[in-house]
Amino acid sequence: MHVAITGASSGIGEALAREYFSRRADVSLVARRVELLEKLAKQTDTRTHLVQSDLSDVSQVTSWVDAAEQALGPIDVLINNAGVQIIRAFTDTPFDEGRRLLQVDLLAPLELSQFVARRMVARKQGVIVDVASMASIAPTPGMAFYNAAKGGLAAASEALRAELAQHGVHVVTVYPGLIRTAMEVAGRAAFGEETLMMKVFAPSGDADVLARLVADAVEARSERVIYPALNVLARHFPAATRALLDAFTPRVPPG
Ligand SMILES: NC(=O)c1ccc[n+]([C@@H]2O[C@H](COP(=O)([O-])OP(=O)(O)OC[C@H]3O[C@@H](n4cnc5c(N)ncnc54)[C@H](OP(=O)(O)O)[C@@H]3O)[C@@H](O)[C@H]2O)c1
Repeated sequence: MHVAITGASSGIGEALAREYFSRRADVSLVARRVELLEKLAKQTDTRTHLVQSDLSDVSQVTSWVDAAEQALGPIDVLINNAGVQIIRAFTDTPFDEGRRLLQVDLLAPLELSQFVARRMVARKQGVIVDVASMASIAPTPGMAFYNAAKGGLAAASEALRAELAQHGVHVVTVYPGLIRTAMEVAGRAAFGEETLMMKVFAPSGDADVLARLVADAVEARSERVIYPALNVLARHFPAATRALLDAFTPRVPPG
């Protein structure tokens, strides 16, 4: 089985890579920091293919796929995981920075999915995993571009499932809440002192646990993964979640 993971150099992507190593998959590891991918690849005796790709550069989004498939065979599972966040007042954010986020978090996964899905449809098999965010379900003040990107990715992902199912291709949509990674540390710091609401309603989960849940969902052909489990409440009570977020999310400092 060939699994391709974007954003494999750290955090959730790295945990997904280790999870698939343990399941004896061949893995293509995609990120900019290739030295971290080299270190990661040393942890397995399964086959790996390393790809240095900057997904903010449109010319690099799909250019690596042919070589990866030559090395490890057709991609069976594509995991769109790479992402960046911006936590800053909307009016203080240079638009080009927001545009770059939309390229990495929304346009690159869509382009990569379309490129790989055409091949999966032709073979009548394959799985696409989109790592969205709870921000897709419960958009957070102070994160306008991230909310837009993850909301768009989740919407596309949820509806693609039915569209591609008739061709034997399955789609899993992943909604991580806060997960202990570099992104989570930076996120909590950007919001400043934690409110009681954040402590109670936004506990941090573990990247290894999430990786196991995602790999299980791929195997079981489940529709979506929501983790930590408390976040399921936001999906079932959207109006209350909206009111809580608007009232209690700390306002990001200016600048
Ligand atoms: N941690 C959380 O609380 C949380 C919550 C909800 C959703 N998520 C989502 O989960 C995914 C993984 O996040 P994480 O928490 O694991 O963060 P992370 O540790 O910061 O990892 C982000 C990954 O994305 C890659 N990446 C970023 N920009 C890239 C670019 N231009 N081109 C190629 N790769 C790029 C990074 O690799 P390089 O820097 O080496 O390129 C890195 O491997 C993201 O999509 C994130 O939005 C995270």
